[in-house]
Amino acid sequence: MVDDILRTPGAVRDAERWTAHNYHPLPVVISSAEGAWLTDVDGRRYLDCLAGYSALNFGHRHPQLIAAAHAQLDRLTLTSRAFIHDQFADFCRELAELCGKDLVLPMNTGAEAVETGIKVARKWGYQVKGVAPGQANIVVAEGNFHGRTTTIVSFSTDEDARADFGPYTPGFTVVPYGDLDALAAAIDENTVAVLLEPIQGEQGVVVPPEGYLPGVRQVCTERDVLFIADEIQSGLGRTGATFACDHEGVVPDMYLLGKALGGGIVPVSAVAANADVLGVLKPGQHGSTFGGNPLACAVAVEVVRLLATGEFQRRSAELGERLRAGLEGLVGKGLVAVRVRGLWAGLDIDPALMSGREACERLAARGVLAKDTHGSTIRLAPPLVITEEEIDLAVNALAEVLAG
Ligand SMILES: Cc1ncc(COP(=O)(O)O)c(C=O)c1O
Repeated sequence: MVDDILRTPGAVRDAERWTAHNYHPLPVVISSAEGAWLTDVDGRRYLDCLAGYSALNFGHRHPQLIAAAHAQLDRLTLTSRAFIHDQFADFCRELAELCGKDLVLPMNTGAEAVETGIKVARKWGYQVKGVAPGQANIVVAEGNFHGRTTTIVSFSTDEDARADFGPYTPGFTVVPYGDLDALAAAIDENTVAVLLEPIQGEQGVVVPPEGYLPGVRQVCTERDVLFIADEIQSGLGRTGATFACDHEGVVPDMYLLGKALGGGIVPVSAVAANADVLGVLKPGQHGSTFGGNPLACAVAVEVVRLLATGEFQRRSAELGERLRAGLEGLVGKGLVAVRVRGLWAGLDIDPALMSGREACERLAARGVLAKDTHGSTIRLAPPLVITEEEIDLAVNALAEVLAG
């Protein structure tokens, strides 16, 4: 087909014309999806190996989630937190139980959950730990990605994310990721929290050395500091467990959740923690008009129920081994290194061969959609409903791309 009878080029041009250029999307225009598959405006099908940056862990339009959304749309969509609605308690209780925590605070986006975690930790620091007013600090890691608000980009080490957005919020100390001694040395009497991704997703699925997370847990306990785990991308089944922290038997003081919590339908995020931590918030001190709305709760409680079966965590662990085997077979054949946890993989392509962007363009031409993270690193995060055959399809497409 030639360009003038394809709908894609015009749709790409229109999108470019009418939006700020804060993304550099692949030139693919999606119009429908089901499970692990996407269809574009010209009828071409693609295997989704990004899953909305892990927001679509249960695949596109999972029947149980879509049914819950439809039913809720027909009854009640929004009340604000000025009133209580009939979907609220079940969602909060079931999510708290999944997390093994006393309480849940629902918000909308991941960045809002992170902001909430920061605010709660600071207030806990002043009211419970006894930090002097205005002195609280939080230890974070190099290479972090926690979102895009002005406070969060203040402690980003990615210049693209940070530059020219100052003045920056003070009160953060950055240490190398995976270095327990550096982290322990950065903690002082005013440290209220350590905020970490248990696996750094945007950085290229970087898994810390074994023993790091348990070490962080121990240091935090000994020094009376909250351990905040940002599981917004790593959590909810992605790594073959409910939380990435589970792989090392670590329980943080606060879980930050988002992305997949909304079932790929609505933005839903949450902070889960015990009452001695989340209990520091009193009426009027924090909130969000849409946080915990009826539609969000109706969908998210079904997400929690899907996770409570354990089926998705199992699939992710089992199929992840197949993905690992396939990808490790490509090391030395165009891949320099791979890191795999469950159905989540970071691939370092030999930079002499091609950039991550080029690899993703070539994968798209073969019907597989993935996204580069930095330089020549790409990330695979397919929906957890992907099958063995589809994993093989993705690995074979990658092998073809690398072979040129
Ligand atoms: C670990 C982590 N935290 C926070 C966020 C921010 O989430 P959102 O884009 O929903 O604000 C992301 C998004 O990629 C993330 O990966």
